[in-house]
Amino acid sequence: MKKEIKIGLFGFGSVGRGLYDVLGAVEGKDITIRRICVRDLSKDRGVSAEFTDQPDRIFEDPEINMIVELIDDAEAAYYIVRRALEAHLPVVSGNKKMLAYHLPELIELGKQTATPFLYDASACGSIPVIRNLEEYYDNDLLVSVKGILNGSSNFVLSKIFNENMTYDKALRLAQELGFAESDPSLDFDGWDSLFKLVILTIHAFGIYVAPEKIFRYGISTMNEADIRFASEKQRRIKLVGHVEKKNDGGVYLWVVPQLISRDKYIYSVEDEFNGVVIKGRYYYKQFMFGRGAGGHPTGAAVLSDITACKYDYRYEYKRMNSGLDIRHTDDVCHRIYFRYRTEEDRNLLKFQLIREQYTSGEWNYVVGDVCLSDLVAVKDSLAGRDIFIAAYPWN
Ligand SMILES: NC(=O)c1ccc[n+]([C@@H]2O[C@H](COP(=O)([O-])OP(=O)(O)OC[C@H]3O[C@@H](n4cnc5c(N)ncnc54)[C@H](OP(=O)(O)O)[C@@H]3O)[C@@H](O)[C@H]2O)c1
Repeated sequence: MKKEIKIGLFGFGSVGRGLYDVLGAVEGKDITIRRICVRDLSKDRGVSAEFTDQPDRIFEDPEINMIVELIDDAEAAYYIVRRALEAHLPVVSGNKKMLAYHLPELIELGKQTATPFLYDASACGSIPVIRNLEEYYDNDLLVSVKGILNGSSNFVLSKIFNENMTYDKALRLAQELGFAESDPSLDFDGWDSLFKLVILTIHAFGIYVAPEKIFRYGISTMNEADIRFASEKQRRIKLVGHVEKKNDGGVYLWVVPQLISRDKYIYSVEDEFNGVVIKGRYYYKQFMFGRGAGGHPTGAAVLSDITACKYDYRYEYKRMNSGLDIRHTDDVCHRIYFRYRTEEDRNLLKFQLIREQYTSGEWNYVVGDVCLSDLVAVKDSLAGRDIFIAAYPWN
């Protein structure tokens, strides 16, 4: 255990500031922020700390013995984390996008340099999903991890389904309240959920699947007809990240809106909260719920990682190192609700079996079974069309 932690912090936005506040509120002074590197030194931060815009001022400070990276630039974050590991400085990161694209390489570097590298705050903010998957579910019984991984889209969906708000109004409200990213596509087209799912899959099943290989569909094209369909079926639409191990050992993953029935845990996850259901053989289901975003909840999660680093905790990637034959697959079919306008759009999806269909001038839909491999094959042709896709699970 290190006696005193002196942090070189990168980023002083929502989460960096959140960490600063949380640290100020905890007892004891054995963890302090020594220097903070930001992009724009001219901004008034309203705190008395030593700011710089030169990464070297952090890396060349011999007092600093831990790097905490909380910036919104994935490319720069990658170089910061790499440089920290190469310098044998324990590092904590919250950057899900950077992690989703670079984790295998950074895990390897952490191993080679025997340097702790933690990032629990990157997936589901204050909910300690990663460490739970690492420590508690260290066996072959795990079947699936499924949940609401993005608070902003869930906030919008809650407002629509509980308060009959329109999509546009709910989105504006989310932005006003600071829940939504400035680029709404990250939240509402499922990118944020996708990045988190990639990270969780490494810890749940020990495999890395690159984001571009995964089917991802969001809620930004959802309209009144889709909301009416869900309500008529007594379901709610939730944007869900889902990874599951099939009986043959193949692991599939996707991010897709799902029509969720009332008896599911995630049906009741409201507003900006996240909820993750971990399912396994024999123990059946466990549910983790909490604030998935926001400066203070995420800052608290970052502090938890810092404290864990202080005790030399590291992820062991037990499943990755288990030697088990676990492979990524898209060989699975699901019941899908598909709303479309034109015949050309209708032909995008290859239905194995049609179970229900409806056609009118304004609203056409098909409910039927579609294979994930066929969805992956057309995923790049779906954007910009007046269509909506949602999984419609049997229960
Ligand atoms: N917000 C959340 O609830 C949440 C939850 C979990 C994870 N995260 C992740 O945490 C990270 C930070 O998010 P945030 O919401 O705090 O972002 P933010 O409010 O936009 O703040 C970003 C900070 O990064 C600094 N920055 C950007 N590029 C930099 C560079 N090259 N060098 C040094 N500083 C740089 C900015 O400096 P200036 O202030 O000078 O512009 C700013 O202080 C992101 O990766 C995000 O995905 C966020």
